[in-house]
Amino acid sequence: MDDRAVLPVLPVHPVPADLERRPDPYPWLNHLRTEGPVQRIRLRDGSDAWMVTRHSDVLAAAGDPRLSSDPRRLTAQPGRSTRIAGGNALPSMLTTDAPDHTRLRRLVSRAFTARRVETLRPRVRDLARELLDPIVPRGHADLVAEFAFPLPVAVICELLGVPFADRAYFSRQSSDLLRPPVDAAAIALADAARGRLRDYLADLVASKRTGRADDLLSDLVAAGEEQRLTDEELISMALLLLVAGHETTVNLIGTGVWLLLQRPAHLEALRTDPQLLPSAVEEFLRFDGPVMTGVARYTTTDVEIGGITIAADQIVILSTGAANRDPQRFERPDEVRFDRADNPHVAFGHGPHFCLGAALARVEAVEGIGAVLRRLPGLTAATAPDSLRWRPSVLRGLQELPVTFDPR
Ligand code: HEM
Repeated sequence: MDDRAVLPVLPVHPVPADLERRPDPYPWLNHLRTEGPVQRIRLRDGSDAWMVTRHSDVLAAAGDPRLSSDPRRLTAQPGRSTRIAGGNALPSMLTTDAPDHTRLRRLVSRAFTARRVETLRPRVRDLARELLDPIVPRGHADLVAEFAFPLPVAVICELLGVPFADRAYFSRQSSDLLRPPVDAAAIALADAARGRLRDYLADLVASKRTGRADDLLSDLVAAGEEQRLTDEELISMALLLLVAGHETTVNLIGTGVWLLLQRPAHLEALRTDPQLLPSAVEEFLRFDGPVMTGVARYTTTDVEIGGITIAADQIVILSTGAANRDPQRFERPDEVRFDRADNPHVAFGHGPHFCLGAALARVEAVEGIGAVLRRLPGLTAATAPDSLRWRPSVLRGLQELPVTFDPR
């Protein structure tokens, strides 16, 4: 079916420039879903795209091989950003399809299995304690800058073998990389940051070649020598893991604590019964997860979703945020409930690209939020909901979380 036949009857919804920074972005996503299961949207870089809003359709599309994860499959078109068309994206497992995706993912998947990650739990707990030690006597803190951010960063640095001491440098590049592409300046900033991170990691990989250590990057360097892993693939794998380790779990911990501060009964329930923490974390992921707007796919042929035929060569956003609030799948979706019998949220995606770091993120969030609740009695937000700042990022997370508590 010709795409142009559909265009005039469906309105185009521009993605708001500030979507992730809104105190509540869900009315916009919910509105799109009530308009229909597939909507035309305009991305912030000006590219036209489609948004899939229902839980069942997001699940089906995320496992559908006709929808590629590789932006290089798109043809260049007037008005379509060259970033999306693959002009300067580094190919990684996130942006490739089988067989390259399978080969790249297999190289690191063992390091991230639930069983392997479970062995990291005591270390995560120690790191959480070390970060909270200087905060506990003080009675006030910014829980994002002083806790939610450094915890996952320290974990991913240790795992990869990236010097934690360099974090100020690569953390800045990482957050610039994920700024929403709202104008030429933001795009230039992101591209420059990607270049600097790439150079930093290329140097680090070179140093691992000479002095091997017991870390994932050293393992990958060794794997690269034995298997089919090019230098470019190795560096982009390191970049993906470092950025994913940086920009996601911090948001889950920050948003989770914030949701609790606004719901004292929920907070008390978790303090009384810490066994509830894993299901609370799943509910935070569903209710306001870090990957909120959605994940990108590219049609390789005509594909029908929700009764709409999307032509080949189109950008499709599978909206994890809209799906996670779909009333057809979740009872009372706009409520935070720790007693959901099943919670099949798609905050970690679905299908072959299901988040590689999901088990790690869960351990970090359970240990991190658990430690905050245990060690900071009388925890209260030191800011009103409207004055809280959300990060200028394509991911959803708090810029800061000022709190007070009873000093010890
Ligand atoms: C993929 C979310 C934490 C590494 C994904 C995807 C989502 C996601 C939605 C699917 C992308 C797609 O389908 O195109 C999250 C959330 C996190 C989190 C919400 C924290 C709360 C992490 C961590 C790491 C990580 C800690 C690693 C250190 C990855 C990688 C992929 C991925 C490597 C690509 C997998 C593939 O393409 O096969 N993540 N992530 N993530 N995530 Fe995460």
